[in-house]
Order: sequence, then C-alpha cells, then structure tokens
Amino acid sequence: MEKVVNAESSHLVLWLVIIIQFSLLFSSAFSAEISPRESNDRRRKGSQVILHRNKGSVLIDNGLVQVTIADHSGHLLGIKYKTMSNVLETKYTKHNKGYWDLVWDNGAVDKLVTERMEIITQTDELVEVSFKKTWKPTPYYHSTVPLNIDKRYIVRRGVPGLYMYSILERRADFPDAHMYQIRLAFKLNKDKFRFMAVSDVKQGIMPTAKDRETGRCHVLAFKEAVLLTHPTDPRLRGQVDDKYQYSEESKDNRLHGWISDADAVGFWVITPSFEFRTGGPHKQELTSHVGPVSLSMFASIHYAGEDMDSFYQKGKPWKKVLGPVFIYLNSASPDPGHGYRNTLWNDAKRQLSEEIKIWPYNFVASEDFPHFEQRGEVNGQLLVRDRYMGKELIQAKYAFVGLAAPGSVGSWKTEGKGYQFWVQTDDTGRFSVKNVRPGVYNLYAWVYGFIGDYKFDHTIIVQPGNKVHLDKLIYDPPRNGPTLWEIGIPDRTAAEFFIPEPNPSFVNAIIKDDADRFRHYGLWDRYSDIYRHGDVVYNVGVSNYSKDWFFAHVCRKEGYNGERRTTWQIRHNLQEVKEEGTYTLQMALAAASYGEVQVRINDPTAVRPDFTTSRIGFDNAVARHGIHGLYRLYSISVPGNRFRIGENTIFLKQTRCQGSFQSVMYDYIRLEGPAV
Ligand SMILES: *[C@@H]1O[C@H](CO)[C@@H](O)[C@H](O)[C@H]1NC(C)=O
Repeated sequence: MEKVVNAESSHLVLWLVIIIQFSLLFSSAFSAEISPRESNDRRRKGSQVILHRNKGSVLIDNGLVQVTIADHSGHLLGIKYKTMSNVLETKYTKHNKGYWDLVWDNGAVDKLVTERMEIITQTDELVEVSFKKTWKPTPYYHSTVPLNIDKRYIVRRGVPGLYMYSILERRADFPDAHMYQIRLAFKLNKDKFRFMAVSDVKQGIMPTAKDRETGRCHVLAFKEAVLLTHPTDPRLRGQVDDKYQYSEESKDNRLHGWISDADAVGFWVITPSFEFRTGGPHKQELTSHVGPVSLSMFASIHYAGEDMDSFYQKGKPWKKVLGPVFIYLNSASPDPGHGYRNTLWNDAKRQLSEEIKIWPYNFVASEDFPHFEQRGEVNGQLLVRDRYMGKELIQAKYAFVGLAAPGSVGSWKTEGKGYQFWVQTDDTGRFSVKNVRPGVYNLYAWVYGFIGDYKFDHTIIVQPGNKVHLDKLIYDPPRNGPTLWEIGIPDRTAAEFFIPEPNPSFVNAIIKDDADRFRHYGLWDRYSDIYRHGDVVYNVGVSNYSKDWFFAHVCRKEGYNGERRTTWQIRHNLQEVKEEGTYTLQMALAAASYGEVQVRINDPTAVRPDFTTSRIGFDNAVARHGIHGLYRLYSISVPGNRFRIGENTIFLKQTRCQGSFQSVMYDYIRLEGPAV
C-alpha cells in the first residue's frame, strides 16, 4: 500500500486569497470609469471578434486574421493575414490544409472528421467554436477510430493568430484501439513559404515538395531521406533532406514555423506547455519539414517505438485535452538583406514567452481544461546520496523532476495517456512544479551526472488551488562499490562521445550548430570508414571518450549488403582483485533498436556471455538521427574471480546485424569494485 500525501490548504494561502480578492474589489471599483489611457489600449487591441456562419463554413474575423473552418468537418480551410489571402495551400482539398489526424490500428489514418458545430463563446473579445462527433458502434467500427471528438478553435481580440485544442474521449464500452500518433498538421502555401526556422540556428531555405519527387532526387537508405540532385533552387543541389533532421525534444519543441519571403510574413506553431504530450521532456518529435508543413505532435511512437504505451483498452474510460497550441502570425517590413527573417523569429520567440506567461489560458472554455486557480503546485528539494562520492548529501542541480501517471520507476518515458508536468531544479536541487492539473501522480526525476531513475514512493494527490510541500527527497542512485573507471557522462545521451563529421556527399547545410552534428545523415556508415581495420578498443586511462568511443554501437558494412557484428573492447588494469568480492558493471544505454549487447569478460569466445541484454528496443534513434532514444540501465554483477591482476578486457558484442540500423547507443559505463 502506498502512502498518500494530501496537503491541506494552509491558513496562509487562505489569507492571501482574501487579500487578493479585496484588492481586486478595490481596483475594479476604481476602474469602473474607463480612463483615456485605457480606451486607447482597447483601440490598440483591435476590432471586435466577429463570427460569420456561411454555407459549409464559418469565418472568425478579429480584423487581424480571418479564420475559415469547414462546417461540420472541423477542418481548417483558411487563414487570411495581411497580404496573404490564405497562408494555407489553396490547391489542396479541404481535408488537406489544416487538420488533426490520428494513426491507429494497423496504420489506419483517421482525420477526426466531426458532425456538428457548436458556438461555445461569442463576445466582442473572443469567439470559441467547437466541432464535435459522438462515436457510435457499428458493425464496421474499424472505419473510424472509437473516440468522441471535440475540436476547438479560439480567436481573441487583438491577437494575430488562433488557438486550437481538442478533447478526445473514450467511453468504457468503446472497443480496444491502438492509437500510435495524434497530431495537428498545417500545409502552408507552397509558393510562398520557403524559409523554415525550428531553432535559433536551425533555419534556412528549404527544398520544395517537388524537389523530393522522382527525377529530382535520390532516395537514400529509407524513403524519408533524399539526396537532392535537381532541386528547383540550384543552391540546394547535393544536399540531404530528411524530416527527422529537424526533430526536437519536447522540452525544446516550443516554437517552429515558416517565413514567406514574398510577404515578410511568419507562420508559427507555439506550444507554451507540453503537459499534454507523451513520454516526458526528452521525447523527440517532428517539428516543421518540407511541404511546407508544420506539425503539432501530441502523441507518437517516434524515437521510442513499440515500447511506447499506445494501447487503449475496452473497459478503461479515457479523456484527454490536447493543447491548446497557438498558431501565431507576424509580419515585418521587407528588406533586401532578409533582416526581417530575424525580426520575425525574434518576435515569435517573444510571443512564445508571452504565451508561457498567460498559461494556463484562462480564456479556454472547456471545463476539461482547468484554469490557474483550479490547478495545484508541488514543491520540494531533491538531494542525492552516494557515499562513494562523499559523506554529504549532494544537491541535485538542474535535475529533471516531473509528475506523471502513477507507474513504475521510469515509466514516464513511455507513458502517454495522462498529463505530465516537468521542471528543472535550481542549483540547490529545489523545484516547484506549477500549474498541475488536479489528479493522482507519482513524482519522478533523473539527475544529470547520476545513473538511474528516481521515484518518490508516495502517491501525490493534487487538488485545485493546493500546494503540496514535500520534504527533502533523497535519491540513492544505483551504486554497489567504488568507481574503478568510467566512460562518458550519465546524461541519457551519447552526445559526449565521438560523433564523426558527415560524409561530404551527405550534408544538410541547415544543421549548422556543432552540438547538432548528430542530426546529419549517414553517420552510422562512417563507423565502417573510420574503423576499417578493427572495432573500438578503449584503453582506460589512455583513451578519451570524446575521440575514441564511437557514439553508436552499429554493425559494420561489408560488401554490398553484408552487415557484420562488431565487438568493442574496454581494456583496463586492475592492481588488485578481490576474488571473493562482487564487482558491478553499470551499463547505461541511451538508445536501442533491435540490438543486443553481450558482455564477456576476458574471454571473447566464451559460448555463454557473462551477461546479455537480449534483443531490446525499437527506438530507431540511429536512423532518425537522434542522439538518444529510450534510456535503459543494466547493473551487472560480476564475481571477482572473473577478473585478474593486470590487464583485463571487457568485450561488448552487438550481436544483431540483419540491417544497418540494428544498434545501441551507450550513455555511460562504469566498473565498480566490491563494496568497502
Ligand atoms: C578529450 O578530447 C576532447 C576533444 O578533442 C578534448 O577537448 C578534451 O580536452 C580531451 N580530454 C582529455 C582528458 O584529454
């Protein structure tokens, strides 16, 4: 039985509420008359929001944007902004401009078409409309995903853009369904949007959809990656394009979009909170890519594969609010030096911080979306206890701490049905998780520089307006003895290891940041070039992991179609060996795709390995240019008599090589001596 922490509202909070209410009373009494300054503010805020119902569509107009939505399907048909009569691609059908879609059982795609429109809010300040469908069982239920759907659009006065969210619900009697991917997609005007921006440095002119067609490119190792041979823009000739090169971790995937150079107009997908996404802060998702397409990914199995929980069982009711996300439009004055691109990107970043400030949006009408006062907060301090690193508790600096659905240690990485709320601790390990929806959670964490996963062993109940104060939380990372040697940094990525330069024939110039080098195409093949004469041999005390430890344990290419298994060696010297003692090999993996690591100590040909991970992982991180997929930790016990005084070698053999992408990435490896 788990203990329950259920904080009561303290008197202090109550008093604060009373004081705030008093001051609100006074301020509203004083501001009953509109001051000249305020009326100016209102005028500056633009004209009122107007809703027009036409045949087959509705139009919402706030004088800045005109948003057209198909009635009753709920598809987005148009956004008129400044000089652009539609920022979406007009040549596409009305199902293919701006829409939600969902990939479910056996890869079927459902575009979440709805049946009726409802006006939720209609004032001068704001219009919110809803497009709904109630799922009905039919003998052919496989024709639509078993979900009740409610898609929402909000346009506010003075705000150049629109807010979109959806409420998806499964009743207890709905049949089983796998739901692998849920997203919002925007297909932008092809002739106009050519410049893509997904981060401060990952920006540039992109190929067109046509450039990816037969005759203009070569498909590389998989269909997503192409080499542009005859692009419409000759400057892109010889470049690689692959949408996975523009992926971001959820915590960084807050702003991305496109710029129309002809209009000096920007289109941006802004995500102020990722509470509704799956898999926590490090889950990687697509952003924008050739099309021009912008996505808002709510759920997917990218960089996780079948380990991601995507099965929705009959008998288990489920409801989730996805979003809101904000579609923001901005414009600048054009200049020949393209300075407006920077202006637009910086303005979109400013807008992102504005949206974060007003999160959780108090103008959202759905009762399934709790506002600020209906949410709670969880505070505490995380400390690490590792007696082999010192007697004192260590403050867990910049650790990731999050609330997610109750589950086992580390379960948040593959959890997707509930909401997750993540923050980073400060330099003393203190954290404050704010704006948490009422609910039942476990608190999870991981700490940079330490292996393993933390889970607080009490369930946390968050109630509206409550603050849960946790005492000091102490994390005891896996540790059985003193460090004899270590390779890498426990940071859940392979970023600190050797990442080769890309093959000069497979460069994508949009990847400019050295820290992003792992996003280049084809690095897996560089292993066969660089380690032509033998696999990785790492000499502890001599080798340097940033130069001598390849970032991914891949197979070696041999001949045309051959892949050969590879065995890496860690050579290390032991001055003494406690034959009766137990040593521990801590082996943390940052990714695994149908790979298997067999560990052998001092005998590379032993029939039985000392340890095997067995075949693990589906995260495809190598092929998708990730520097990590899902984290795994193996604490491997090794009897002292397996070692000898003097030189020892640990052999790591990746035994699965039916294709180029069967692989693992190491995060960190440590040998611990017996407990002292
Ligand atoms: C390891 O190599 C990196 C990259 O060349 C270098 O910056 C670092 O100083 C080296 N570390 C040591 C301990 O030599």
